[in-house]
Amino acid sequence: MAGGGKRRVAILISGRGSNMVALIEAARDPTFPAEIVLVLSNRPDAAGLVRAAEAGIPARAIDHRAYPDRATFDAALDAELRAAAVDLVCLAGFMRILTPGFVAGWAGRMINIHPSLLPLFKGTHTHRQALDAGVRLHGCTVHFVVPELDAGPILAQAAIPVRQNDDPNSLADRVIVQERRLYPAVLALVAGGQAWLEGGRVILAAQAPDGALLSL
Ligand code: GRF
Repeated sequence: MAGGGKRRVAILISGRGSNMVALIEAARDPTFPAEIVLVLSNRPDAAGLVRAAEAGIPARAIDHRAYPDRATFDAALDAELRAAAVDLVCLAGFMRILTPGFVAGWAGRMINIHPSLLPLFKGTHTHRQALDAGVRLHGCTVHFVVPELDAGPILAQAAIPVRQNDDPNSLADRVIVQERRLYPAVLALVAGGQAWLEGGRVILAAQAPDGALLSL
């Protein structure tokens, strides 16, 4: 990792990229400890690619369908990230499972946002899962990426109440607001050296916030 200046960050997306936009906007602040240097999508039709380009960020598709298997796709991804001298990787609605080899290469330097209060409701359809389980609190989690899906050490979480008449869409609408708030705050912590991975656990610096956001 380059010392001194801002950490160089790549964002991996597969879709509309609203978390990506939140990260790009936060990083415009001169005091933000990271700069977004690259956006990559595994889907050429991802709307987020257009939004990144509009924001002046180099944005490219690496179409996973052009590669025979996960390992060769991940190698292409890795080569792009290293060519751009990336320090940190943010997954933001990136819908591909990454190989353990790729994940190991970015251990402690790759984070993900997931739309549930992990370890509850891994995988997809998290808002439906939350409603089916009858929980009163739902939310989102930013965590370091490990090979097991949605299982890495937790950096921070934001919680919202589940209301009597919520459906998956209404929950998604309120959780995404918290995602866009939480993710830039967590990237600032990691890029600023206030949160890091040590021995498989997240360590927060003494002056760092405690990682919990509530929206009640
Ligand atoms: C978010 O809910 C994110 O947590 C999940 O996929 C969604 C992506 O939304 N992994 P966007 O592309 O950031 O708008």
